[in-house]
Amino acid sequence: MKSVIAYFSHRGYNCVDGKVKYLEKGNTEIVAHMIACVSHLPLFRIEPESESNYPDNFYEYLNITQQELANKAYPQLKGYLHDHYDEIYLGFPNYWGTMPRAVFSFLKELDDNNVVIHPFITHDGGDYGNSLTDIKTLCPHATITEPLSLKCTHIKCQLSAIETWVKKGSHD
Ligand SMILES: Cc1cc2nc3c(=O)[nH]c(=O)nc-3n(C[C@H](O)[C@H](O)[C@H](O)COP(=O)(O)O)c2cc1C
Repeated sequence: MKSVIAYFSHRGYNCVDGKVKYLEKGNTEIVAHMIACVSHLPLFRIEPESESNYPDNFYEYLNITQQELANKAYPQLKGYLHDHYDEIYLGFPNYWGTMPRAVFSFLKELDDNNVVIHPFITHDGGDYGNSLTDIKTLCPHATITEPLSLKCTHIKCQLSAIETWVKKGSHD
């Protein structure tokens, strides 16, 4: 069984509890690392090619990501999964009620035959929004298990919930 934890997360200025805060490590990245601690699986970071060009200014970042969504963009990524994986823990933040467009790019290139996707989402109140429907549309041959959805203000005290979810996923 070949498994990986693939995640998108944004370091720097972010929206936490309705306020703009600077994060050394993104919320989803923290959860991805917790899953890696529990499962001992490798990590794969989903990174847009243009990430280094993204503005430091948070409001500009909001505009760019909203524009990407409006344009149904598939931003080029720094890397893709080349091998077939049987199981993917897929982490991302809720952006505008769904996944960041970089995650759309990642899933579009994925070999979705016989793959089990365990989605984990961080958000600021919007839960997983439409993301599960969007994953299903992009990966019609994948099996999508029950997602883990965490509010971004409560992440660091969620280790036991994360552990329970990982153990459940590995037995599904
Ligand atoms: C561009 C952008 C759009 C967002 N849109 C939503 C949203 O629609 N609903 C929601 O609950 N949270 C939204 N958030 C909050 C993020 O989902 C939340 O802060 C998340 O934990 C960020 O994850 P990260 O630190 O791993 O990037 C948004 C944040 C950003 C930066």
